[in-house]
Amino acid sequence: MSEIALVAQNLYKVFGRNPASAVKRLKAGESRSDVADAGTAAVIDASFTVNRGEIFVIMGLSGSGKSTIIRMLNGLLAPTDGDVVVQGHSIGKASASELRGIRRSAVSMVFQHFALLPHRTVIDNAAYALEIQGVAKEERLARAQEILDRVGLGNRAQAFPDELSGGMRQRVGLARALTAGTDILLMDEAFSALDPLIRREMQEQLVELQQELGRTIIFITHDLNEAMFLGDRIAVMRDGRIVQQGTPEEILTDPANDYVAQFVQDVDRTRVLTASAVMEPPHLTTPISAGVRGALRVLREEQVSAVFAVESRRLVGAVTDRAVIRAVKSGGTDLRAIVDTNVLTVGPDDLLTDIVEAAVESPVPLAVVDENNRLIGVIPRVTLLAALGNVPATTREMPIIQSPIEMVAQFTPLVDAATEGEAS
Ligand SMILES: Nc1ncnc2c1ncn2[C@@H]1O[C@H](COP(=O)(O)OP(=O)(O)OP(=O)(O)O)[C@@H](O)[C@H]1O
Ligand SMILES: [Mg+2]
Repeated sequence: MSEIALVAQNLYKVFGRNPASAVKRLKAGESRSDVADAGTAAVIDASFTVNRGEIFVIMGLSGSGKSTIIRMLNGLLAPTDGDVVVQGHSIGKASASELRGIRRSAVSMVFQHFALLPHRTVIDNAAYALEIQGVAKEERLARAQEILDRVGLGNRAQAFPDELSGGMRQRVGLARALTAGTDILLMDEAFSALDPLIRREMQEQLVELQQELGRTIIFITHDLNEAMFLGDRIAVMRDGRIVQQGTPEEILTDPANDYVAQFVQDVDRTRVLTASAVMEPPHLTTPISAGVRGALRVLREEQVSAVFAVESRRLVGAVTDRAVIRAVKSGGTDLRAIVDTNVLTVGPDDLLTDIVEAAVESPVPLAVVDENNRLIGVIPRVTLLAALGNVPATTREMPIIQSPIEMVAQFTPLVDAATEGEAS
């Protein structure tokens, strides 16, 4: 099956007396307010592509056109101009009965009934949406059991909702909604009525369930933190137009204009940005095979106080100038003997919020390693702080860790001696 679930092509929706002429004038360059005499331009030239299995978030303030767009995606509203292509089928060209078919089999709206009915068992609750759809009893119970198995509650099928924890109940409700629907699910402000704590839980559940069930979700919200948390990609709307689309990281780190920049300034970056977004190339490495002398050369040339030692690109550990000095003094040459293998490593997808503490405690930059322990980047503390404060990092140096003056005095003659000896 195609990797593309849905395409919105230059969608326009104008409500009012003369929609077609308003679109013509918008296309000719007039603004939303210019065409106000002809109608309300709720959606202006919106184009985007939603991939299968992703959560695509449409975000914007009240009145920016989000609900109008989503209603055009399943043919509930006809676009004034442009088209929507769902799994290869044009919604604009579909007949009324084809449209009903698309809504039944391809793209459907998830309504906000995540609460369970208290007097029904868990399995009867899980089967409820299917019951409403008219699915026969045997089939709906079988499918409900499958939902429960998937969310890890298969053995609680005969329990009543008040015998489950709050989180379990929500999980069943959400799974029920997702399972009853089609491949593409539209959710318009689905969590907005919930209190903040429950809302956060629901967001987490949705991300988990979406990964398990592999659905494509188009989620609308006016809450930026929700958008950033849920979205694989986000489209930001303003006054009917999509002003930027991208991953949460792209939108945070590279806002397309002042409007988006202002919008995102209060977002908690540590919960969006990952190590890979802020890491720098690992310049300061030395192969184990280069020995103490090789490490010394890098420390001196780069004027830093520590380097990472690698072997076949895999991280072995960190070597500090102190350890090198001691080794040189005592005539040691084997780098492996002085590598501190006890360095903190993080993965490229770790959220900054989870690595800040490690960064603060680590005397050397955090090493970012892949699943094969290959060193793919480093995060100096300055870089991390810069990312958190959203100011550019101007240095690539390792932080100096101990009394530099005293160090240089001890260090320089040793380095000179060692590297001269090598040159001759
Ligand atoms: N049926 C309609 N007739 C006339 N104007 C409409 C209609 N539906 C929406 N609008 C207007 O279109 C614009 C976009 O509305 P829409 O409901 O899409 O916004 P929204 O982003 O979903 O807002 P909210 O966050 O408040 O739900 C608004 O100016 C609204 O008043
Ligand atoms: Mg709306």
